[in-house]
Amino acid sequence: MQTVELIAKKRDGGTFSSEEITWLIEHYTQGSIPDYQMAALLMAIYLRGMDARETSDLTLAMANSGAQLRVNTQVSPVIDKHSTGGVGDKVTLAVAPLVAACGVAVGKMTGRGLGHTGGTADKLESVDGFHVELSRDDFMRILHEHQIVLAGQSNDLAPADGKLYALRDVTGIIESIPLIASSIMSKKLAIGASHLLLDVKFGSGAFMKTVEQARQLAQAMVEIGREAGLHTVAAITSMEQPLGRAIGNAIELAEAIDILHGKGPADVSELCYHEAAELLVMTGKATNEAEADQLVTQAIQSGAAVKKLAEVIAAQGGNLQQIEHPELLPAAPIRVMLAAPRTGYIAAINAEGIGLASMSLGAGRFKKGDPIDHRTGLILQAKVGDYLTAGEPLIEIHARNEQEAQDIQASLLACYQWSENPVQAQPLICDIIR
Ligand code: URA
Repeated sequence: MQTVELIAKKRDGGTFSSEEITWLIEHYTQGSIPDYQMAALLMAIYLRGMDARETSDLTLAMANSGAQLRVNTQVSPVIDKHSTGGVGDKVTLAVAPLVAACGVAVGKMTGRGLGHTGGTADKLESVDGFHVELSRDDFMRILHEHQIVLAGQSNDLAPADGKLYALRDVTGIIESIPLIASSIMSKKLAIGASHLLLDVKFGSGAFMKTVEQARQLAQAMVEIGREAGLHTVAAITSMEQPLGRAIGNAIELAEAIDILHGKGPADVSELCYHEAAELLVMTGKATNEAEADQLVTQAIQSGAAVKKLAEVIAAQGGNLQQIEHPELLPAAPIRVMLAAPRTGYIAAINAEGIGLASMSLGAGRFKKGDPIDHRTGLILQAKVGDYLTAGEPLIEIHARNEQEAQDIQASLLACYQWSENPVQAQPLICDIIR
């Protein structure tokens, strides 16, 4: 086979056979296909697309390009949960211990934040001593002992995706549904949970800007999961405004702890409880939604859910006192309350703009490998639909110094749209694809 022939085939709208896809991924992973040819091929895929069978073959080839954890062969059922990324998205931090507290194991590898979206691994590292880098043996031991493990993404899983993602990132080829679906699902198949819940986000703060794009991506991933024997469900959820109130690292973890105590903001709490209940039904722990809701409520009210979070934090070397007393989490030295510039209803809050402002306070990375400041971020005092009088609190800025707090104020205010008339916030969950 010749790479140049395969590039031309896709350029002209052809369909790859399973053998061609396996050959391409094997040779690219080994280094015998150069990046310039793979970039041309990816651009042809971007422009011409791939059908469901090709996407599924690509996913399997990438999943098979490195180690396979097969967690499901040792603990079953074992769930995985993945969000396509958003601003203020602390859902995994709450859903994982909640589901584990209800008796279903959670074996999860979590990513770091890149761009304006945050990463669960960074948020967890707000806790003193906590480490996300675990050996495979430690991953399995902690999963066996505690029914929950929250590790960082291992580089030996789906290495073909690591190479392809880095290439796509610098050649303008990220926003392709078959390429995103196969990238995410190859890592999930390599971990090998029995059940997967995907949270596919759309809106100003998400990769997918429209609900239609999110639905297509969700459908592609659910289909890949079905083909591969991984029970996959996707929730399509809105990222038109930040989720909950906190955007940052330590402050998002503190909000997740509030959610586990039943005291979190209504929007994100409902999403977390809903996703946890969905997982309990998927795995057969509950026979229906009402029973699942009851299990979730019990885990919150009894304190079992927050205890589970403290347990996994301690198992991975973290200071559990900071979960029991979140006021001990790292805190920014400067807090500035930004006031509403006018009276009216909040009509929209640009999630991407808020995420970028939080990054510039140090809470996120402008490029891979940048250090982050776990203390900084933003706490929204009001959300879409709320009525404020000019001068009332709008956002609390948590900054390293006065200057940085000052510098972002104009861009923060530009994220808001106001209305004279009442505004109804959109529901968070748009659809569930099973
Ligand atoms: N996340 C991934 O893991 N891969 C993509 O292509 C996009 C988002």
